[in-house]
Amino acid sequence: MIALGCDHGGFGLKNAIKQYLEENHIEYKDFGCMTEESVNYGPIAAQVARSVAGGQCEKGILCCGTGIGMSIAANKVKGIRASVCTNEFCTEMTRRHNDSNILCLGGRVISEEMAVKLAKIYLETPFDGGRHALRVQQISQIENGEL
Ligand code: RB5
Repeated sequence: MIALGCDHGGFGLKNAIKQYLEENHIEYKDFGCMTEESVNYGPIAAQVARSVAGGQCEKGILCCGTGIGMSIAANKVKGIRASVCTNEFCTEMTRRHNDSNILCLGGRVISEEMAVKLAKIYLETPFDGGRHALRVQQISQIENGEL
C-alpha cells in the first residue's frame, strides 16, 4: 500500500501519480488534499509519514510546490527517510543507498510526466543493503540520540 499526499502546489502531480498507480494495479491510500484550494502541507505530511512509520503503508509519496516543505515535515516523524528528488539518478540512489521510504516531489519544479517517471523508479528500486545498511542504521541512532 502506497501512501499519497499533497498540498495545492502538488495536486496535479499527485493526480498523475494516482492515475499511474491505478493503471498498474498498485494499491494506494490518498491522504489528500482533494482540491486545488490552498492548504497547509504539515498535517498531510504527518499523516502520510505516520502511516509509513507505523507500517500501514510500505512507502509514501508527498507532493507540494517544491517537495521541500513536505520532506522537512515528514522527516520529523521517527523512522522516516523522506527525500526530495528532481531527477532519475537521485531517485534511484535514494532507494539504493538511503533506503528512503517517502519520495517528495515539487509541482512547481518538475512536470507530471517526470513525476510519474520518478514514482515508477522509486517504487521499483530495492535497497542495496551491505555497507549502506550501517549508514542507514546510523541515521536511526542520530534520531535516538545515540550518535
Ligand atoms: C505552498 O505555496 C508552498 O509553500 C508549498 O507547496 C511547498 O512548496 C512548501 O515547501
